[in-house]
Amino acid sequence: MKKMVVLTGAGISAESGISTFRDSGGLWEGHDVMEVASPEGWRKNSELVLNFYNQRRKKALEVKPNNAHLILAEMEKYFDVTIITQNVDDLHEQGGSSKVIHLHGELFKSRSTLDPELVYDIEGWEIKLGDKCEKGSQLRPHIVWFGEMVPMMELAVEETLTAEIFLVVGTSLQVYPAAGLLDYVEKDVPKFVVDPNMPTMIPLDNLFLIKEKATEGMEQVKKQLLENYL
Ligand code: OAD
Repeated sequence: MKKMVVLTGAGISAESGISTFRDSGGLWEGHDVMEVASPEGWRKNSELVLNFYNQRRKKALEVKPNNAHLILAEMEKYFDVTIITQNVDDLHEQGGSSKVIHLHGELFKSRSTLDPELVYDIEGWEIKLGDKCEKGSQLRPHIVWFGEMVPMMELAVEETLTAEIFLVVGTSLQVYPAAGLLDYVEKDVPKFVVDPNMPTMIPLDNLFLIKEKATEGMEQVKKQLLENYL
């Protein structure tokens, strides 16, 4: 089986009803990103940050994977698939994908503010001010905020280096280090990019740009992969 590595972003979940970040004019569900997704924001107003992610979690409980997530899971019949997602939702897992690396953390997990090794599953949708880890410190969302380390990056690079097919779905490629993964893909590896708004100028060899929404674009990628790359 050929190894296929997929980098996904907010766009793949858009048709499930989760809004993307940069399509909404710089605001993120009405908030300045730095207020709700940075260590400074957390220090300034932890309750606001907790509430923000509580609302994201509540919303995520209402949505379902769409056909793009399902096709990626189906591809495991034909390819050795690793998904590297910038998304914190669990729609890839719900769709049936078995190997998912969450670069930016996971919405349904909480973490100790004292010991980053202490990570917990969240039952339901809420982390409250006063909810503590076993060592007695406040729990925070298990999310990589701006300015924080991206601990899963090393593994993501390792996977990317061995890709025989590389696919990018629904990311503006504006956030590093995630966007830099493309630099690790071997030159002769076919690269498919699915995004309705992508600029046509991505300086990569063997690039197939599919200017469609994720569900339609993934149907086209699936057809091409099964016809030409098995
Ligand atoms: P962005 O909001 O930056 O980009 C979303 C991309 O999806 C854009 O290129 C859109 O054109 C595209 N898009 C919109 N609708 C689509 C659809 N139906 N099908 C396919 N593509 C569609 O989101 P990300 O690139 O994921 O980080 O953003 C990267 C990171 O920035 C996020 O992980 C988040 C954010 O700040 C953290 O929370 C740490």
